[in-house]
Amino acid sequence: MKSHEEKYAELLSKRELARAPAGKEAIAKQHQRGKRTARERIESLVDDGSFIELDQFAVHRTTAFGLADKEFLGDGVITGRATIDGRQVFLFSQDFTVLGGSLGEVFAEKICKVMDLAMRTGSPMIGINDSGGARIQEGVVSLGGYAEIFWRNVQASGVIPQISLIAGPCAGGAVYSPAITDFIIMTEQIAQMFITGPEIIKTVTGEDVSFEELGGAQTHATKSGVAHLTAADEEEMSALTKSLLSFIPQNNLEDPPRFACDDDPARDVMELDDLIPDSPSKPYDMHDAVAPVLDNGDFFEIAPLYAQNIITGFGRVNGQSVGIVANQPKFLAGVLDIDSSIKAARFVRFCDAFNIPLVTFVDVPGFLPGTSQEFGGIIKHGAKLLYAFAEATVPKITIITRKAYGGAYDVMASKHIRADINVAWPTAEIAVMGAEGAVKTIFRREIAAAKDKDAKMAQLVDDYSERFANPFIAAQRGYVDDIIEAHHTRRVIVKSLEMLANKRVERPKRKHGNIPL
Ligand code: HXC
Repeated sequence: MKSHEEKYAELLSKRELARAPAGKEAIAKQHQRGKRTARERIESLVDDGSFIELDQFAVHRTTAFGLADKEFLGDGVITGRATIDGRQVFLFSQDFTVLGGSLGEVFAEKICKVMDLAMRTGSPMIGINDSGGARIQEGVVSLGGYAEIFWRNVQASGVIPQISLIAGPCAGGAVYSPAITDFIIMTEQIAQMFITGPEIIKTVTGEDVSFEELGGAQTHATKSGVAHLTAADEEEMSALTKSLLSFIPQNNLEDPPRFACDDDPARDVMELDDLIPDSPSKPYDMHDAVAPVLDNGDFFEIAPLYAQNIITGFGRVNGQSVGIVANQPKFLAGVLDIDSSIKAARFVRFCDAFNIPLVTFVDVPGFLPGTSQEFGGIIKHGAKLLYAFAEATVPKITIITRKAYGGAYDVMASKHIRADINVAWPTAEIAVMGAEGAVKTIFRREIAAAKDKDAKMAQLVDDYSERFANPFIAAQRGYVDDIIEAHHTRRVIVKSLEMLANKRVERPKRKHGNIPL
């Protein structure tokens, strides 16, 4: 029989083994690939000494394909609980050194256990992904394991925040779970996400594509919109995750953390008075309107490289988290198109699910015309944004800086779809369309009959602009609550948030709505 000391020694030696289950060489190889180990990733992310590991001794139950005599303590994934800036999170970190981080039955059970704990305790769930997908040796059992995780992702959606960090090549099933989570952050040049890899693509479609081009961070941050943020390295990935968490609550029943604010809530932002160019067709950068009204000018942008005609992100006003949605006149004149509608709709729904008030900056000339947009379904995709704003019950504050034309006026958190406070700058133009388009449509015959067509056109445009391209008609009807000096924007947002602090909305009883997907 083993002595007491021997039993303790066995525990310690097993713990040591679990720290490098595939051996030191495998860890060296991981470092050579420019990647941290699964354990190092957790250590760099969480508060020192806060990590409590679960299931360190779990091992797979497979005997097929030579796995009978290969045992890896922990089965290729590290799971547990920790704190980040003092707040509890649950997390898993996939260990690529063990069978390529591939997911088998026990691996999946470990992840499910921490997901269940995260749900039971109302704590955010963070997944660090570095995995070749379903563990091929375990066959259908791996698929079952994945589906158990997907099911939990869906149950947790809108209840606890879910964040996916992609820190290596992630294939097959390894990308579906992140896709259901709220935010995806990828490391540049190292992380990849794809359903099927370059070899299969070559066989099926004949296309030649590299791993990086197919599913690298740049691809997903700019083309597919799958990734919300990219990080130059894993250090930056940890820093981004911490910043992101600072804006969001632990769960849907709590408010985001409130920070002490050393930036004057009534601060005037004088430069806003000169931001809007004289010509309505001249672009400006909407970031220059958004950042200065936030506490200390700090804006944490989400999906900054995708659908840049709309800006989404988090900031704080008077220490309180807000979600910003803003048209960006600098890209495509700030039009709404398929990609920007989807990007903003998902962001609005996240904010609404997690009690983050929405502040919307509007300068939108309308929807993007064209067959590619129509054939691509702009009708249903544009409707997503309308739907998201209309169903959101968090406080909604809207600021029209310049154009609010046509259907896009309605969509962009207008009064009619139940924004709470709508204000316009004196430079706002709230109308069915821009002056030129309007005049060409309604005065076609008059212009054609005129001797000097250009002069007639100019006079009609002038007249239309004078009468309609301003905020006063909307203000007469109460569609905007006030016309404010641009430099007062920050104080108006602060006061509006105070006013709306106890906002309560009863929604009709139903199973769920049917957003046009
Ligand atoms: C078992 C796997 C594995 C897997 C990788 N490995 N993927 N073992 N099951 N799915 C093993 C490799 O055999 C290798 O073992 C080690 O992990 C490292 O892999 P490498 O290929 O050497 O690494 P790298 O060159 O960096 O390439 C990484 C990779 C590639 C791009 C992820 O391994 C790959 O393409 N893997 C297969 C991806 C895939 O098709 N997965 C199945 C998806 S189906 P050794 O012993 O040599 O070190 C799926 C269905 C789920 O997921 C659907 C749910 C809805």
